[in-house]
Amino acid sequence: MNHAIVIFTSKYGATKRYAQWIAQALSCPLLEAKNCSKTELAKYDTIIYGGGLYAGGVNGIKLLPQNWQLISNKHVILFTCGIADPADTENTLQIRQSLAKTLPAEMMEKLHIFHFRGAIDYAKLGLVHRAMMAMLRKMLLKKDENTLREEDKQLLQSYGGRADFTDPASIKPLVAFVRTLA
Ligand SMILES: Cc1cc2nc3c(=O)[nH]c(=O)nc-3n(C[C@H](O)[C@H](O)[C@H](O)COP(=O)(O)O)c2cc1C
Repeated sequence: MNHAIVIFTSKYGATKRYAQWIAQALSCPLLEAKNCSKTELAKYDTIIYGGGLYAGGVNGIKLLPQNWQLISNKHVILFTCGIADPADTENTLQIRQSLAKTLPAEMMEKLHIFHFRGAIDYAKLGLVHRAMMAMLRKMLLKKDENTLREEDKQLLQSYGGRADFTDPASIKPLVAFVRTLA
């Protein structure tokens, strides 16, 4: 396998957990995006970036477009970490559609994307995030119950509490893929 690095942005720790598991499995360095310099990025053949999902967007994704010139000839892998179930293809399709709106087409074509399931603990949410979730709940409660998607129902059920779907086994496809890279 070539030289890889795992870089992440994590607000409440779920993405960090996945980043740690991946770095451990691949025996490669782990770095928080805010501490990642161009010099550091230049050293590796494979860049694995992970960020939590917030209102459909990937936290800290700007690292990739901002450094595209430097990394476009490398293997670039993106993983997302969100509370919605990645086994639901409607969900992953939405994540990719939203990424395609913010990233250039050339980048979307080159990216290898994986999706993992995160965690939420309402007691630990910051004020802005708490308000966003309250607004989302209010919006969902106004809808006809029969039109709600599975993830919306889950959000309403878990609202205010804690849910943790992080699973170390789910990194296997990403790790296996990186091991195939020359
Ligand atoms: C304000 C807010 C918005 C969120 N939006 C999404 C979302 O659009 N899709 C999703 O799957 N999860 C969403 N989540 C759940 C987070 O992605 C989940 O908590 C994830 O584990 C966060 O990872 P982190 O703690 O590493 O930042 C949201 C959470 C908050 C607080």
